[in-house]
Amino acid sequence: MTRIPAGPGAERIADLFQAMTILGTIVFVIFCGALVWGLIHPRDTVLRPTSEDDRRRTRMILLFGAVLPALILVPLLFWTYGTLAAIDPRTRPADLVVDVVGKQWWWEIRYRDTVPGRTFTTANELHLPVGKRVELRLTSTDVIHSFWVPELQGKTDLIPGRENVAWIEASRAGEYGGQCAEYCGVQHATMGLLVVAQSEEDFERWAASQRAAAPADTVNAQGREAFLRACGYCHTVRGTTAGARMGPDLTHLASRRTLGAGLLLNTPGNLGGWIANPQALKPGTRMPRVPMSRDDFRLIHLYLQTLR
Ligand code: CUA
Repeated sequence: MTRIPAGPGAERIADLFQAMTILGTIVFVIFCGALVWGLIHPRDTVLRPTSEDDRRRTRMILLFGAVLPALILVPLLFWTYGTLAAIDPRTRPADLVVDVVGKQWWWEIRYRDTVPGRTFTTANELHLPVGKRVELRLTSTDVIHSFWVPELQGKTDLIPGRENVAWIEASRAGEYGGQCAEYCGVQHATMGLLVVAQSEEDFERWAASQRAAAPADTVNAQGREAFLRACGYCHTVRGTTAGARMGPDLTHLASRRTLGAGLLLNTPGNLGGWIANPQALKPGTRMPRVPMSRDDFRLIHLYLQTLR
């Protein structure tokens, strides 16, 4: 993963942050130098000041207490306003609108479409076409979370009962890590997100595959039945009778890179461990350890891997 700004939003923020860091460091060094100089050159003018000393002191206070801070802070103030204006979602219409719902402790992601049947829902993995501005409508169904992908854009909170608007844009293809940035409970630290920025063709291909219902599995019908019995009360798999929204939509689970909101790579071994005992891997997660027979476990494990 790259670690430098990879989008126009993060670039503006990084420029301002670097300028503030450099200026802050210079001021700090000068201040410490003056302090040390004052300590090793004590002067008796403090106790018996002449009027010339008083005037010099007043000039120094004006210079270092008002003039220099104003020269540094006023340009930074305008720079900050400029940056805020540049990352304001109202400045430019977006190419795509995505709803992001924060949940303890994962992300529901819904791609809107003007044609109602073309909207689709996924989880914990946000795909973007490179160079396109994607508007995010952020909300939460439980507590306050915060959406943050440092390489692409600043943070925006997800607040229950309220819709916050932000935008995100990647200027080059790649995978970028995101993280909930507002303490939201015991698994706050493992509320991760993966952003995949890809070419427009790749994005369209991905969106088309996500829009489709789950592949009808003719080989493992038993696995689907076992899944519906054990998991269908919390999860959705489009194309089956499982339509609950307590947990993530699993229609294309096997196409995702990670499990448990960025906790584990989506490998068959990790998937098996996750189904067998999610509480051991992510203590406190809303997914319970579902009791099931050895056969059901094997069938469900196989079935989930077909959800590409
Ligand atoms: Cu969600 Cu921290």
